[in-house]
Amino acid sequence: MYDRHPISAAQVIARLTSERGDLSDVGPEDLFAHDQDHYGGLDANDAIARLADLKRGMHVADFCAGLGGPARYLAHSRGVHVTGIDLNAGRVAGAAELTRLVGLEDQVEVREGDVTATGLSDAEFDAVVSQEAFLHVPDKAAVVREAHRVLRPGGRLVFTDWVLHAPLTDADADVLWRGLAAQTLQSISDYEALLQSAEFTVERTDDLTADWAVILDQRFAMYEALRAETGAAGLPQGEDAFYEAYARLVALVRDGVLGGGRFAARR
Ligand SMILES: C[S@@+](CC[C@H](N)C(=O)[O-])C[C@H]1O[C@@H](n2cnc3c(N)ncnc32)[C@H](O)[C@@H]1O
Repeated sequence: MYDRHPISAAQVIARLTSERGDLSDVGPEDLFAHDQDHYGGLDANDAIARLADLKRGMHVADFCAGLGGPARYLAHSRGVHVTGIDLNAGRVAGAAELTRLVGLEDQVEVREGDVTATGLSDAEFDAVVSQEAFLHVPDKAAVVREAHRVLRPGGRLVFTDWVLHAPLTDADADVLWRGLAAQTLQSISDYEALLQSAEFTVERTDDLTADWAVILDQRFAMYEALRAETGAAGLPQGEDAFYEAYARLVALVRDGVLGGGRFAARR
């Protein structure tokens, strides 16, 4: 799905080039309007940084880092070092290209890997963060255990994800799987139980559903505009199933069946 996603490094670079004329002197801030593949933009990153108590010099793992947008933002704004993990080779290559473009390669590296078995060392990180990505991971318990393993004692896992407020129909589950690769979605209390069984102390849970209902409408409009822009530029546009699933997602969030949660837990 992410090979055909309407947000890509090529699309970000095409946008920057058309706005600026060329790519000279592009700084981290110039990317932030384009490279965040989650709801709530930079405010969402700031909320995560506060809950994870990030401080200059800390080592942070970003699980499912995508194009590295949040990783670069945290590195630039908080002075942390970020190691991202992403399953998709195109995302990893795109992250490297954008990170080099803005000169953050000493602080940010996105590696190809699966967040249920990252290959990172035990207790290597002060914090693990993730945004809107565990929806794709079939085994949520495994990813929570992996975060616990790579965190130092006292380190925090802070993440956002889709959450279920009511069961999905089989038809909706199928649409969301085929179009958006969403699977094994959890409720807020399911996630709290998973965190506790991995021996985390849950410090805080926020239901973001009302905020996401507003944001999702805007985001769907943004994707439809991007579809036209990327189509004209010959770049990946997403498939019909992506847009069909997105329209259903917007309705499910508006109806309160699905929503967003933010979780902060301490090892
Ligand atoms: C919605 S994007 C979020 C990207 C990033 N967190 C952000 O906020 O910009 C979800 C990402 O999860 C990645 N992903 C999905 N399953 C994964 C897995 N098992 N291990 C690592 N990354 C995964 C996808 O390749 C995709 O880049």
